[in-house]
Amino acid sequence: MACVVIALLTILPVVMGGTTGYLGDSVTLSSGANSSWNLSKIEWSIFSNNTWIATYRKEPHTLKTDRFWQFQDRLRLNISSGDLEIRDVRIGDALVYSVLLQDIKGEQHNVPVQLTVTERPNVRKVFNMLKDSHCVMALQCSSSVKDTHLSWEPEAAFEDAFWRRNPSTNVSVVWTSYSPNRNATFNCTASNGLSKAFRVVTERCQEPDVVGETRIPGIGFVMLLLGIVFGCVLTYIYFRGKMFPVPIL
Ligand SMILES: *[C@@H]1O[C@H](CO)[C@@H](O)[C@H](O)[C@H]1NC(C)=O
Ligand SMILES: *[C@@H]1O[C@H](CO)[C@@H](O)[C@H](O)[C@H]1NC(C)=O
Ligand SMILES: *[C@@H]1O[C@H](CO)[C@@H](O)[C@H](O)[C@H]1NC(C)=O
Ligand SMILES: *[C@@H]1O[C@H](CO)[C@@H](O)[C@H](O)[C@H]1NC(C)=O
Ligand SMILES: *[C@@H]1O[C@H](CO)[C@@H](O)[C@H](O)[C@H]1NC(C)=O
Ligand SMILES: *[C@@H]1O[C@H](CO)[C@@H](O)[C@H](O)[C@H]1NC(C)=O
Ligand SMILES: *[C@@H]1O[C@H](CO)[C@@H](O)[C@H](O)[C@H]1NC(C)=O
Repeated sequence: MACVVIALLTILPVVMGGTTGYLGDSVTLSSGANSSWNLSKIEWSIFSNNTWIATYRKEPHTLKTDRFWQFQDRLRLNISSGDLEIRDVRIGDALVYSVLLQDIKGEQHNVPVQLTVTERPNVRKVFNMLKDSHCVMALQCSSSVKDTHLSWEPEAAFEDAFWRRNPSTNVSVVWTSYSPNRNATFNCTASNGLSKAFRVVTERCQEPDVVGETRIPGIGFVMLLLGIVFGCVLTYIYFRGKMFPVPIL
């Protein structure tokens, strides 16, 4: 029985067209409208009593996105695609959204969308420093979502060694030693069976630049130029003195 319920919970969002939103981020609910459609009416609603949250009419032109208090100033309706953007996603936004579309030819389309709201895992840099010409780094990933499994993965191009450990169920740490002056990108994934969230971090550590040698040619050039100028001035004074001798009074 429990298995059936879990299976249903897993399948349900797929059947309805599931979308995942992250707390504080923006999420766009797709209307499913064919891009060739010329929409004359769009109605987004929630609850079984179809409470309107965002509506559009082509004739006369009316666009309303502040129909329901919960979404005040957080909705943006794209009138050409019918897609609905929800900004600053909150826990209470995890609902089933219905959309009614009308094409100028009169066609209608209705696609309920289940929005799942989850939290991105938090990442903290424990340390990242240069030691014996190598960067040594530790990153910690955690989540406050219940029963979350966390895991770290480096980006595909990362070739250096790394070690992972989960000191507790909702904390995961990765250590690595990598070559300096290039990016080290890691991805922490949090999953609790129903939803999945990840956060990507890019770190690097810089080897101090070698200075000194590059400046000498510059200084040399300035000295050479000064030498030429002084030489010319002295030569001029010398010849001027010879050609127009200063009369001795
Ligand atoms: C959109 O509609 C056109 C004609 O009505 C159809 O040929 C096309 O396959 C549709 N596209 C999609 C993505 O459904
Ligand atoms: C959609 O229909 C209106 C008339 O209702 C027309 O003016 C407009 O050009 C059409 N747009 C497209 C992309 O077909
Ligand atoms: C629709 O249902 C919601 C929740 O069930 C309720 O809060 C709201 O008052 C209802 N709206 C109308 C117009 O009945
Ligand atoms: C509306 O959707 C269309 C098609 O997806 C896209 O090209 C356009 O940039 C969107 N407009 C806005 C204002 O986001
Ligand atoms: C890990 O989970 C426990 C209980 O579920 C909670 O008290 C603790 O704050 C969580 N730790 C972090 C870093 O979120
Ligand atoms: C390294 O990461 C920074 C941002 O963190 C990015 O701007 C830069 O393009 C990356 N460099 C490479 C070579 O990937
Ligand atoms: C991070 O991992 C998740 C799956 O665990 C994947 O869906 C996502 O594309 C990855 N992101 C990057 C930038 O690699």
